Amino acid sequence: MMHAWWISVSGAALAVLMVSMPADAQRPDVNYDEAKVPKYTLPDPLVLANGEPVRDARTWNQRRRPEILKLFQSQVYGRSPERPKNMRFETVEIEKQALGGKAIRKQVTVWFAGKSGPSMNLLLYIPAAAQGPVPAFLGLNFPGNHMVHADPGIRLNEIWQRDRSAPGGMAKVRGTDDQRGRSAEAWQVEKVLARGYALATIHYCDIDPDFDDGFQNGVHPLFYKDGQTRPAADEWGAIGAWAWGLSRALDYLETDPHVDAKRVAVMGHSRLGKTALWAGAQDTRFALVISNNSGEGGAAISRRMFGENVKHLNTSFPHWFCANYRRYNDRVDELPVDQHMLLALIAPRPVYVASASEDRWADPKGEFLAAVHASPVYELLGRKGLGTTEMPGIHQPVGHTVGYHLRQGRHAVMAYDWDCWLDFADRHLRSR
Ligand code: GCU
Repeated sequence: MMHAWWISVSGAALAVLMVSMPADAQRPDVNYDEAKVPKYTLPDPLVLANGEPVRDARTWNQRRRPEILKLFQSQVYGRSPERPKNMRFETVEIEKQALGGKAIRKQVTVWFAGKSGPSMNLLLYIPAAAQGPVPAFLGLNFPGNHMVHADPGIRLNEIWQRDRSAPGGMAKVRGTDDQRGRSAEAWQVEKVLARGYALATIHYCDIDPDFDDGFQNGVHPLFYKDGQTRPAADEWGAIGAWAWGLSRALDYLETDPHVDAKRVAVMGHSRLGKTALWAGAQDTRFALVISNNSGEGGAAISRRMFGENVKHLNTSFPHWFCANYRRYNDRVDELPVDQHMLLALIAPRPVYVASASEDRWADPKGEFLAAVHASPVYELLGRKGLGTTEMPGIHQPVGHTVGYHLRQGRHAVMAYDWDCWLDFADRHLRSR
């Protein structure tokens, strides 16, 4: 059995293969024994840094939430810049009869800093039958836009693929016809459209290619001050950049008359699930947030030391987090936050955590417990959170404003996950 950790180190496979691999590891330094989970105390989201309790929404919003956000910025993901002033949106294609007449397809280039610098290519499907602006799902994709559906109209953009012979183990290539639709199971385009939602997606490497090049490519250099050559210890890594890109996509969606930008759900799988959570935590314009199998550095409680841990993350993927995060490699108990507080930053907006039964590397129980321990913040804000402290069985979705399910099977996005998210979105976004 191959796993993504090994792949990332050896650079042996295509990105498209990587996401379909079980992210499991049979390494001696990985704990998969529940009995060996250490005793731990979680930092309390409802206690201020000075020790005072948070008893009302005002104290949460004005004091505690900013404190926690700052800790995630300075210690975990790094600070990100604001929206650039000279961003441009260029609609490069519109097809009103896409997918056999079921959808309007739009392809938009988002230029981050005028028309010569870095850009990202957004693919947007809108249900053709829509009357007025519709709610939407927005997510980054691993392999390239043309792999989310076999639709021959999707442009074959440049993508980054694993290539052992390339510097950093990844090469920039042009997508090919034979790759079309390879990742269709993870995107369920027709299902989403049939339920009345638009779907927007971007190849994540457009924003920052996923390898450690000392932050020379991607969007980071756009923001270097004179003489700066890499982000400071409390500045954004790749996850910060990808999350920033999601906010820039939302900037575009705010200008698109087909989409109701006040009802956009941001979703992501695995490293992109970590990214979706961080995007939703920082940018309160996202109406709903979905994390799929996001694991360590995503929804899973770090202090459990089950499956992947902080040291594994920082060793295999030194470019994902801010440099300060490495301080906690061997001292996870000293982290001033844990991942339930990342979910709490999304409150009172709905958040959904999805796990998969075979995905031990991501620690399904740790993902569930973060949803449990974020719930008191939702309750303080007058919402029902998860509503249970007992982990449900396979295919028994639970929750209210915080949702959770454990799907049967491997580390992946499958039709069942989308069924649950669409039901959750219907409950929270439809009624508005
Ligand atoms: C690796 C990594 C995980 C990550 C996953 C993925 O397995 O260790 O943290 O979530 O890759 O993004 O596929």
